[in-house]
Amino acid sequence: MKILVVGNGGREHAMAWRLAGSPGVEVLITRGNGGTDDVARAIDVAPTDVAGVATAARTHAVDLVAVGPEVPLAAGLADRLIADGIRVFGPVQAAARLEASKAFAHEVMAAAGVPCARSWSFDDATAALRHLESCPLPVVVKADGLAAGKGVVVATRRDEALAAARAFMVEDHLGAAGRTVVVEEFLAGQEASFMVMTDGEHVVPLAGARDHKRIFDGDRGPNTGGMGAYSPTPLLDDATRDAVLASVIRPTLDALARRGIPFRGVLYAGLMFTADGPRVLEFNCRFGDPETQPVLYRLRGDLAEAMVACAEGRLDRVPLAFDPRPAVCVVLAAGGYPESPRTGDAIMGLEAAARLPETRVFHAGTRRQADGTVVTSGGRVLGVTATGADFAQARARAYEAARCIRFEGMQFRSDIGASVG
Ligand code: AMP
Ligand code: GLY
Repeated sequence: MKILVVGNGGREHAMAWRLAGSPGVEVLITRGNGGTDDVARAIDVAPTDVAGVATAARTHAVDLVAVGPEVPLAAGLADRLIADGIRVFGPVQAAARLEASKAFAHEVMAAAGVPCARSWSFDDATAALRHLESCPLPVVVKADGLAAGKGVVVATRRDEALAAARAFMVEDHLGAAGRTVVVEEFLAGQEASFMVMTDGEHVVPLAGARDHKRIFDGDRGPNTGGMGAYSPTPLLDDATRDAVLASVIRPTLDALARRGIPFRGVLYAGLMFTADGPRVLEFNCRFGDPETQPVLYRLRGDLAEAMVACAEGRLDRVPLAFDPRPAVCVVLAAGGYPESPRTGDAIMGLEAAARLPETRVFHAGTRRQADGTVVTSGGRVLGVTATGADFAQARARAYEAARCIRFEGMQFRSDIGASVG
């Protein structure tokens, strides 16, 4: 079976690696990165090029297209592939709106009775600013559309909240993505990421995870795409997982189904565990990055078979399980990340890291040059992932591997997974 992975970051390297481990599977990947050659054949088409991916899927006679990032899904890649008779793992455009429009997500959650922050949507800047002049603080200002992690401001001061709304709505910092703004009440608590695979009807929960979005230790500094992640999280024990399936996942899928929208792929709920129970912070329509690295590292079972079953609407017959041992993924980021990451720096020590037990270095922003040197090519460069008997051992292994690796300006957090023991 041939599977085309769309995307070329750390999440997609983990997907390609896990798929390549399924019996009889050959993996292709859109462009790939400096590490994907080991597990997948790169083809020269941009992950965001909907028509190009559809053509490549036909030319290479792939049996399944597995989509990593949200942008092509929101642009209708799954719809296009389905129309062409090609199996796809990832939701159609109408379902991807759960991530691509925060106002739509709130509309669906309200109809479904899903617990979340109170919210107000504005497409008029004057009305948004008037609301923010007098609302309680802190307050959260979110661009409605896709903004690659730059669309959410948690404002503790009123001038910050007003500046965020102005930047999105008046100064057009995010273009069309920011012209509608969703204002949310601030929720205090602990975060967790809960992903399920679903064919719209059947739901297979994946292991819970936590990602660390802030750049510095102790969850300080600006938000990034994610500086590391671990799985499982004690917040999502079996009973809580079942409760979230019943209060969040099922009602959301049912509310979409009532609108005639099937959801096939990964539904990701970003949750805040508040004093009043779990509340949804966001939905994503795909695997989280970097949560996918530790979650797929722990996956036992046949991911290719599960994805095909999902695409065909028969997910009920696929057993997936998770290694009970925890996994930790430490992101090694480029100097200057997140504002202006440096690129083109040679990466040393990858071979030494690869020799360590129960450790895997997933590549993200890397590129292999003609002479074989691997250089940095993006903000999040590598996701060093390791497992162990307990969190302490998984963490020790991941950090040992991280210390083998060097490149100019390299930065990473030293506390990924430290709060769980
Ligand atoms: P989002 O992309 O919507 O998940 O937001 C990014 C981050 O902002 C989340 O991971 C939270 O840390 C924070 N956040 C988002 N919404 C809220 C909220 N209503 N209350 C508190 N923090 C929030
Ligand atoms: N780690 C959060 C995300 O993938 O959006």
